[in-house]
Amino acid sequence: MTAPAPPPFRAAHLRRIGLFMLLIAGAIAGAALLRSSGGGPAYQTPPLAIWVHLATVVPAVPLGAWLLWRQRKGDIAHRIGGRVWALLMLVTAIDSFWIRTMTGGIGPIHIFSVLTLVQLPRAIWFARTRQIDRHLKTMRGVFFGLIAAGFFAMAPGRTLWTFLFG
Ligand code: HEM
Repeated sequence: MTAPAPPPFRAAHLRRIGLFMLLIAGAIAGAALLRSSGGGPAYQTPPLAIWVHLATVVPAVPLGAWLLWRQRKGDIAHRIGGRVWALLMLVTAIDSFWIRTMTGGIGPIHIFSVLTLVQLPRAIWFARTRQIDRHLKTMRGVFFGLIAAGFFAMAPGRTLWTFLFG
């Protein structure tokens, strides 16, 4: 009688928790670094940064949804659409470091920006190395971040809320 094999997901599970903790630590360290390099109450968010942000997130939402929910994956439309989407997300995340509307410095929503900058290259790497399941899961996570950050942007009192309903 052989002993039952340990559950196969265990190592992957631990690796994922380790990576997640690393990402959080990186985000906190990055935020602390950026907070110490400029910003503060005197900082004014350049209006262009908000326009660039909106110009990238508005097409990124339907394009991302289309890429994820479309049955066919890996064809030319997926690859072109995916590159455009990755570029839009990259610009969104980088540009967001100039947006410091709420605190004048780096705020908690910038964790989404750091996560996007870390997860996007990973997802592309997974696609290139044919780890399709991990590619799909990671891209889903980045898309979820986009939607979550969009919800936060709609919170009462924030610029978008005031613009739409205020
Ligand atoms: C549908 C999606 C999104 C919409 C509609 C949206 C909209 C906005 C708007 C209007 C602002 C500026 C005004 C404010 O802070 O109230 C903002 C700020 C910000 N957004 Fe987004 N955004 C979206 C997605 C994202 C994503 C995907 C990221 C990160 C990858 C992100 C990161 C940020 C950050 C860090 C700020 C600055 C918050 C602060 O002042 O501390 N947003 N967003």
